[in-house]
Amino acid sequence: MLNIEQLIAAATSEFAGITDAAQLEQAKARYLGKSGSLTELLKGLGKLPADERRTTGASINRAKDQIEATLNSRREAIKRAALETQLDVSALDITLPGRGRGRGGLHPAMRTLERIEQLFRSIGFEVADGPEIEADWYNFTALNTPENHPARSMHDTFYLEKAPGLLLRTHTSPVQIRYMQTHVAQHNHLEQMPEIRIIAPGRVYRVDSDATHSPMFHQIEGLWVGENVSFADLKGVVADFLRRFFESDDLKVRFRPSFFPFTEPSAEIDVAFMSGAMEGRWLEIAGCGMVHPKVLRHGGIDPERYSGFAFGMGLDRLTMLRYGIDDLRLFFENDLRFLSQFC
Ligand code: DAH
Repeated sequence: MLNIEQLIAAATSEFAGITDAAQLEQAKARYLGKSGSLTELLKGLGKLPADERRTTGASINRAKDQIEATLNSRREAIKRAALETQLDVSALDITLPGRGRGRGGLHPAMRTLERIEQLFRSIGFEVADGPEIEADWYNFTALNTPENHPARSMHDTFYLEKAPGLLLRTHTSPVQIRYMQTHVAQHNHLEQMPEIRIIAPGRVYRVDSDATHSPMFHQIEGLWVGENVSFADLKGVVADFLRRFFESDDLKVRFRPSFFPFTEPSAEIDVAFMSGAMEGRWLEIAGCGMVHPKVLRHGGIDPERYSGFAFGMGLDRLTMLRYGIDDLRLFFENDLRFLSQFC
């Protein structure tokens, strides 16, 4: 007959090797069943002398408790394993990241544009626009640009091959003419024309491409026409705008004499920052001037009675300065690592 300790060891190791619930119950029968090994031991008790019977009986009962406990924990383990297998089979991986769309954001140039529109609206300007495919007349002739002006050459301007007289506008200035014409037509029944105060932002095109030039870029045209509009008004409006745009009161603004066919006198606008990486350096950011009498006439406005100023700023340039961006091409590559910094 096996001794009790051996029996416990045998049951423990047998149970441990079983992974099937039915097999486990069969194994149980071999130890605890009607003719199981332990039951047989109990049956043999009667043959022992009375003094041994008691101690042996007690240790058989302990063995029975121990085997039952091992059995129970094995039952639990098998049940758990079955549940786990079932969960695995019908697995739903809730850790898989969703296919949600990322939040979009405005391009830095458009962010700048919104800000500029807001600043000009706050001083009574409206936002106007015009076509990007423009007639030669609006882009050049009406703006007093002579027939032989270099800007008109095919090296500088994209002409539409199959549509003579049409081109991709090289600046936003033609919106001046278009707006004046419509404005005059709308108000010619009035004794006094209401003032024109607009900005016209948009895309413009030139045959040009390097780190600081792109064949497509953005400008913002400004136009203020009324009675007694002067160069002093131009300086005030532009300088005030620039200080608000760059949020800097000690920004230096300089008007440097220049030439544009559509303004007289004309100037280039430079700014200099009094702190930061660009400290003290003059940077050109816009052209401007008093609208040329011929240009006013092409817009249908009498230059004897009305005067006005105009300016044209580079939106991309302003954006680069405001955010400290050093390569214009970043604006057009659509690299999200760059763009998401502005969201
Ligand atoms: N159209 C000019 C350009 O593209 C910029 C410009 C200069 C616009 C002077 C103006 C102006 O309205 O008055 O270079």
